[in-house]
Amino acid sequence: MAICAPSSSDSSSGSRAWVVHAALLGAAIAAAAGAHFYLRRWSSGFRSRVVGIIPARFDSSRFQGKPLAQILGKPMIQRTWERAKLASTLENVVVATDDEKIAECCRGFGADVVMTSVGCRNGTERCNEALEKLGKNYDIVVNIQGDEPLIEPEIIDGIVKALQGAPDAVFSTAVTSLKPEDGLDPNRVKCVVDNHGYAIYFSRGLIPFNKSGKVNPQFPYLLHLGIQSFDAKFLKIYPQLPPTPLQLEEDLEQLKVLENGYKMKVIKVNHDAHGVDTPEDVAKIEALMRERNIA
Ligand SMILES: *[C@@H]1O[C@H](CO)[C@@H](O)[C@H](O)[C@H]1NC(C)=O
Ligand SMILES: *[C@@H]1O[C@H](CO)[C@@H](O)[C@H](O)[C@H]1NC(C)=O
Repeated sequence: MAICAPSSSDSSSGSRAWVVHAALLGAAIAAAAGAHFYLRRWSSGFRSRVVGIIPARFDSSRFQGKPLAQILGKPMIQRTWERAKLASTLENVVVATDDEKIAECCRGFGADVVMTSVGCRNGTERCNEALEKLGKNYDIVVNIQGDEPLIEPEIIDGIVKALQGAPDAVFSTAVTSLKPEDGLDPNRVKCVVDNHGYAIYFSRGLIPFNKSGKVNPQFPYLLHLGIQSFDAKFLKIYPQLPPTPLQLEEDLEQLKVLENGYKMKVIKVNHDAHGVDTPEDVAKIEALMRERNIA
């Protein structure tokens, strides 16, 4: 009130009237905002504003210009974006890149692009910078890997809904069945979860470990998929949390979340991972798409 009141000592009825009006207007705005807030929470619930961010950099040690690699006639980044656009939980999908060629290509097929600095050391930092530049009050950010051109929109919606349904978690991700022959491959990250679907641990080693020392063909091992979503407030602090011992030893970023005591919700999905890491993977994925009649 003191801020609204005119500074002059003149307390004519005119200025008083102004103060009253300002107070009424303030109340009306508060009521409208309250109603809007209530309706939003009522209609779509907790953490309702969701953005999908596809981080894409040009330089990749194993595959230069990877996001622009043609997959059956379309750039890989476009395929990923088209899949993400089909997710019903996302209010917006943006590409975050440090590269003008990628930006130009993405604008060309209709994507929103946010330019991020070359200094981003990983996809999470890029998502965080993009979130700041977007300047909107999103509640959840989905980090959609640009190198999974066959990502199912249902998986994106699944991890978003998991995070909306678990207020005590700050992070959600997806796993699928691990093929027993991949059990000892350190590039396949395994995950174990508790009875409520919260992550206990991730490892490049076989977890759980069978005392026979071999992969147990009967056990339903879980393979971690790269897609992840964050509570937007958590995303701001995540890159700043110092590296943790288990994270460093396993070389797995997500362990930093668990080692700091945060909760992570995990959903199980049916998905054959078809990540594109090397130029050779392009031919493999194209063969698969032809086989399944995906245009
Ligand atoms: C270990 O794996 C074998 C099959 O390889 C299975 O029969 C056994 O139940 C598993 N668990 C234990 C505790 O041995
Ligand atoms: C990203 O890179 C920075 C710098 O290497 C590191 O501190 C951070 O833990 C990395 N991962 C995440 C998830 O932010």
